[in-house]
Order: sequence, then C-alpha cells, then structure tokens
Amino acid sequence: MASRWLVLTLLAAVGKADECRLNGPLELSRTLSTNSPYVTVPFTPGTLQDNPFKNTRYRINDFCVGEHTGTHLDSPFHFSENGWSTDQIPLNRLIANGVFLNVTEQAAGNASFRLQPSHIDAWVERHGPFPDNAVLLVSFGWAQRFANRTLYLGTASTNFTEFRQPGISVEAARRLANIDQLVGVGVDTASVDAPGSGDVHVILAAKNMYNLEHVDLDQPCLPAKGFKVFSMPVKVQGGTGAPARVIVVPH
Ligand SMILES: *[C@@H]1O[C@H](CO)[C@@H](O)[C@H](O)[C@H]1NC(C)=O
Ligand SMILES: *[C@@H]1O[C@H](CO)[C@@H](O)[C@H](O)[C@H]1NC(C)=O
Ligand SMILES: *[C@@H]1O[C@H](CO)[C@@H](O)[C@H](O)[C@H]1NC(C)=O
Ligand SMILES: *[C@@H]1O[C@H](CO)[C@@H](O)[C@H](O)[C@H]1NC(C)=O
Repeated sequence: MASRWLVLTLLAAVGKADECRLNGPLELSRTLSTNSPYVTVPFTPGTLQDNPFKNTRYRINDFCVGEHTGTHLDSPFHFSENGWSTDQIPLNRLIANGVFLNVTEQAAGNASFRLQPSHIDAWVERHGPFPDNAVLLVSFGWAQRFANRTLYLGTASTNFTEFRQPGISVEAARRLANIDQLVGVGVDTASVDAPGSGDVHVILAAKNMYNLEHVDLDQPCLPAKGFKVFSMPVKVQGGTGAPARVIVVPH
C-alpha cells in the first residue's frame, strides 16, 4: 500500500514537471539601461539627436557601456589568457541545448548559499545525462529580487566588490568542468562566483566555457531540459564579454 502511494506521488511529481512547457520564445535578458548593474562602466546614454534629412527626419543616439553590464556573457578570455574572446566563441556554442537547475528552495534567500555537486547530481539522477552542447542555467531565486537593487545585489552600493549573492562552489565548478557536453553556465545573479572570488570563473574558462550573468530567470516556468538557449553577445573584437540577448525557445 505504502509503495503504491509512493508511485502515485512520483507520477504526480513528474506530471507537474511536464506541465511546464515553453509555448514560444522567452526573453531572459533584461533591457540595457541606466538601471543595469555593472562592474566598470554603467550604461550611459548619449543625447538623442533629432535631425532633418532631405524631406524627412531621423533620430540617432550613442551609448557607452562596460563589457560586463546588465545581462551579459563572459567570454573564456575574461579569465583565461588563451580562451576565446567574445568574437571567437564558435556560433554553434552560442546556440545550445538548455538545462535548467532550480535551487531556489535550497538557497532559501540565503546570499551565502553555494551550489554543490550534489545539486548537479540530483538533476542528472532525475533527468538523465546532460544533452550535447549544453548550457546550464541556474536559478537561485535571485532574479525575483531585481526590482529592489539592495535586495538583488546585497548592497545599496554600485561598487561590485560589495555585492553579496549566492554563487557556485569551487567543488561544483570542478564537477561542471568535467561535464564534456557543457559549453556554458548562466546564473540569475551578478556572478557565477562567490563574492570576492574568481575561482569559478578560472575553472570554467580553463575549459573554454562562457558564463551568462544577470540572466532573468524570474519566469513563470522553465522546463528542466528540451529547449534551446540563444546567447547573442555583441561581437566585439578581443572582448572579455559583452551585453547579450539571451533567448530560450522550445525544441
Ligand atoms: C546560509 O548559508 C551558509 C552557507 O551554507 C550557512 O553557513 C548559513 O548558516 C546559512 N544561513 C542561514 C540563515 O540559513
Ligand atoms: C528594498 O529592500 C531593502 C532591504 O530589504 C529594504 O530595506 C527596502 O525598503 C526595499 N526597498 C523597496 C523600495 O521596497
Ligand atoms: C570598491 O570597494 C573596494 C573595497 O571596498 C575598494 O577597494 C575600491 O576602491 C572601491 N572602488 C571604487 C571605484 O570606489
Ligand atoms: C523555481 O523554483 C521556485 C520554488 O519552487 C518556483 O517558485 C519558481 O517558479 C521556479 N522557477 C522556474 C523558472 O520555474
């Protein structure tokens, strides 16, 4: 009797997960604006010019932005001298198979939370091995805080060295670096690393993996797998990263 209940409970859990399907493309990048968190240079708009041109008018503007502002991609070159710069990342790696790991409940709003190898193992146990050419998106439940900067960055300061948010542990980064199918890792926080550390960046960059940071994972639902992730950074020569459109689409 008890085992029948267990089977029914498991089926109910699987059924619930299956309800979560993408019906079309979903935008995971936030609008680049003066509100975008940054490391070096904030998004700085120029002055909109509204000019006459023959028998019409045209508008033109400029902006200035740091490579690691808002939703952005870190190229492997950011933390690996021999890694690909933004313009060198092969296109097929930027159109990847999505894997979604949601540790919102485990993180429980704790900025000191670190993703552990056991969280990755639990995903694999439940959903099988990672697909080829995979990008892992990790939700710490932090994207939900974005409307309140102090809650999201753990400080009212714009100085990134003072940001406090969950991240990936070094042990988990090593586990990820050993998954040959993996080409990139995205998070809904300011950094894949613990605040003040670059260790996870170094471990992932050594495998020529890219990172996605400030990904908007505050979505009604994302399936654990079975979707594509398009990560499209501006193709800057020699870039350490760039603001990026990150879009998921169903298979
Ligand atoms: C937050 O997480 C850290 C690291 O796991 C842990 O040491 C700490 O006790 C947690 N804090 C709370 C309030 O649970
Ligand atoms: C944002 O969060 C901080 C920290 O919890 C809180 O003190 C502040 O009142 C919040 N701001 C708004 C506008 O809700
Ligand atoms: C940011 O904070 C760090 C550590 O508190 C400090 O060393 C650095 O000078 C600050 N940077 C700026 C631009 O204020
Ligand atoms: C992640 O899990 C939390 C807590 O269970 C849930 O509220 C949230 O909707 C999930 N996120 C996505 C994108 O499915």
